[in-house]
Order: sequence, then structure tokens, then C-alpha cells
Amino acid sequence: MNFRLGCALVASALFSFAATAAAQQPIIIKFSHVVAEKTPKGQGALKFKELAEAKLPGKVQVQVFPSSQLFGDAKELEALLLGDVQFIAPSLSKFDRYTKKTQVFDLPFLFDDIAAVDRFQSSPKGQELLNSMRNRGLLGVAYWHNGMKQMSSNRDRLTRPEDVKGLKFRIQASDVLEAQFRALGANPQKMAFSEVYQALQTGVVDGQENTWSNTYSQKFFEVQKSIGETNHGLIDYMVVTNVKWWDGLPADVRKGLSEAMAEATAYGNKVANDINEADRKKIADAGKAKIQTLSKEDTAAWRKAMEPVWKKFEGDIGRDLIDAALKSNS
Ligand code: LMR
Repeated sequence: MNFRLGCALVASALFSFAATAAAQQPIIIKFSHVVAEKTPKGQGALKFKELAEAKLPGKVQVQVFPSSQLFGDAKELEALLLGDVQFIAPSLSKFDRYTKKTQVFDLPFLFDDIAAVDRFQSSPKGQELLNSMRNRGLLGVAYWHNGMKQMSSNRDRLTRPEDVKGLKFRIQASDVLEAQFRALGANPQKMAFSEVYQALQTGVVDGQENTWSNTYSQKFFEVQKSIGETNHGLIDYMVVTNVKWWDGLPADVRKGLSEAMAEATAYGNKVANDINEADRKKIADAGKAKIQTLSKEDTAAWRKAMEPVWKKFEGDIGRDLIDAALKSNS
């Protein structure tokens, strides 16, 4: 064998060795989110990792990045489209730029409770929304629950709409939420989740709205005086992936991931309410922010004050979608 032929054979053997090794490397799947691990979304993401790796041993490795460690609100959707992360689970309020349809979830006092939200999300109309951003490169693979929102502020009282008049409120990047606070005579300020604690602490904003779980895990209750138990809206999530990446996966991997996602969804949705209830109790026990419950009359006043929001967004969202959501209350 001459020297050249020898080299070529060695090179080809090395190449095929590398190719086989590459074929055996697990697919790295990054799941990035903005909340703490001990929250409904944090627990759902960890459960997805556990199940996906058990169903697809050696084929996938799921890396979960909580607390905006990898990408925060401002970057995570772009990062998903660029292929820098494979799953994210933004709150339904944060898809404004990609579809107007998900705005339905932000309409104040639309859903009576999470059971109603669940019925709507499982309905044909709710399921259609998972596909509503396909043309933008995003595919919804699941809805995950967090819970109902409460309002908090650095003032002593928060039971009536008048109590938030003139105050500055941090909001998620949602035009509906902006309109909601304008209807109340407050000043909304869109801000990334990771910046809220400091903004509350330094008085850049006076208040915020969130679930018990987020208010507890981000320590917002330590820098607020009152929390009105308003239950006026919802924080739930859509788990989204990149359409191209998803469609390009080997069929068995896609199947295993779909099953893991369905099971993780059932698990996360089961624990969401318990986590929120436990965190409400921890906030109450801490005795820092005072939890204030609302009378029927108080709730009616909030509803009335927020009514204009529905009119403003009905055209964009579509009456059919709003009606389908309302039907889920019964
Ligand atoms: C927020 O920004 O307040 C929430 O959407 C954070 C989250 O993901 O629960």
C-alpha cells in the first residue's frame, strides 16, 4: 500500500468513527424560563426533563434554565426562533407581537376560575390557538397553568379600583394589560419579570399584578404593603417550540417528547393550585404585605372599571373566541 492510500484509509476510518460518535450523541434540548424552580412552571419544566430523558435514553438531554438565567423576557422568543433554545413557556400575555388571538386570555374577569380556563384551553378553539403562530415559526405544544392574578401595591389599602388611581404599575408586555391599568386611572409600565423586584423596592413602580406563586418566589411581598385578592385575571403559559426544529426531529424523538410534554403538563397543572395556595399562606404568615379580601361589591366595582378593555380588544381577538371562552365558565 502506498503512503497516500494509507493516509486516505486512515482519514476515512476516522471520519466514519466521528460520524458514528456524532450519531450517538444525545440531542441537546434547552428549556429556558423566567421563574424560580419551586413554581408551577419551574416544576413542569423539571418534570419534562425527567420524563423526556427516561423515554428517550441516550437520545436526548434536556437542560433546564430557570430564573431568566439563559434568556429573560426580552430575548427568549427571538432566541427560540434563532435556534438558541428549543423550548420556552412565556405567559400568554407575552405573545402580543406574534398573534392578537392570545390576547383573549388577558381580558379582565373573563374566566371564573382555573377550571374554566382549562375547559377553554382543551376546547377546539383553545387548541387552535396552539397553531396560531405557525406562520411566524412558533408552535404551541401545551398550555401550562399558573393561577389567578392578585394586585399588590406600596399603599395601605387595595380593595377598590380607586386605591390604584395614579399609581405606577409594572405590567407584562401586553397591550390589554396596558389598557386595563389605564382604565383604572393608573400608569402602566411594561417591564421584564427579572427587573420587577428592584423596581418595586426602589419605587420605580408602586405595584404589580401576579399569582401568589410569583409574588412569593420573587419576594415581591417583602417590598409591598398590601395585596388585594382581586382574582381579576390569569397567568398561564404556552409552551412553544421552533416549528422547523420540531419538524426536523426524528419521528421517534418527536413522539417521545410529545408524550413527555403531555405527562409533564398533567403533572404541572395538578400541582399549580397547591403551590399557589401554599405560597399564599407563606405570604400571610410572613406578615409583611397585608392580604386584603374583597367583598362582592368591591369585585363588582373592579369589573365595571375594567369593562372598557373588552370593547377595545373585541375586534382584534374576535367575538367567536371570546364567546367560546365565556362558555367555558358554565
Ligand atoms: C410575569 O412576567 O409577571 C410572569 O409572566 C412571569 C411568569 O413567567 O410567570
